[in-house]
Amino acid sequence: MHANSSRFLTAAFAAIALSLSACGGEPGPVDASAGEPPLAGADIGGDFELIDKNGKTVSWSDFQGQYRIVYFGFAYCPDICPTDMQRTIQGLEGFAAQEPELGAKVAAMFITIDPERDTPEVVGEFANAFSEDLIGLTGTPEQIADAASKFRVFYARGEESEAGGYLMDHSRIVYLFGPDGEPLATLPADQGAEAVTQELAKWVK
Ligand code: NI
Repeated sequence: MHANSSRFLTAAFAAIALSLSACGGEPGPVDASAGEPPLAGADIGGDFELIDKNGKTVSWSDFQGQYRIVYFGFAYCPDICPTDMQRTIQGLEGFAAQEPELGAKVAAMFITIDPERDTPEVVGEFANAFSEDLIGLTGTPEQIADAASKFRVFYARGEESEAGGYLMDHSRIVYLFGPDGEPLATLPADQGAEAVTQELAKWVK
């Protein structure tokens, strides 16, 4: 059994070595870019219909031509969501300071996964606390469930909070999408604003 599996491994390594040497045979074109975006081709994102702070319907397709930062969370989140949003917006502002024209091509949106409490007014106030340019979005429970599913975001009602009310469990992902709505990368808000700026500089061209 062991002998067989090691023979198999040897054959596998030989095959890998062959394919590597085949690739290395001819020098390819020099690629000065950051390479393929990590989320290229992933089935993430899609046409949502949500509601902004003024009660106006907003669609994913309204952002055609713009890069998009998308984060799902909830306004009553005691720590994670505000921290992620603060670092994300600081990172975007840092990028925009370096590259004003490119920075202007990036729309940032915060989508609530707690539509019961996060009315248009509440989500608008939450977003405004970080930047007037951050777009706060809510919707009916069905609209939120549809958007979260398209963006591969998990959420569920969590435990009761000490302050009264309840917490929400949710995915913690800062997505970056390209001008056609294609997923590009996640932004490392957990590593701080500077890391977000550097990641934006890799993909926003
Ligand atoms: Ni949160």
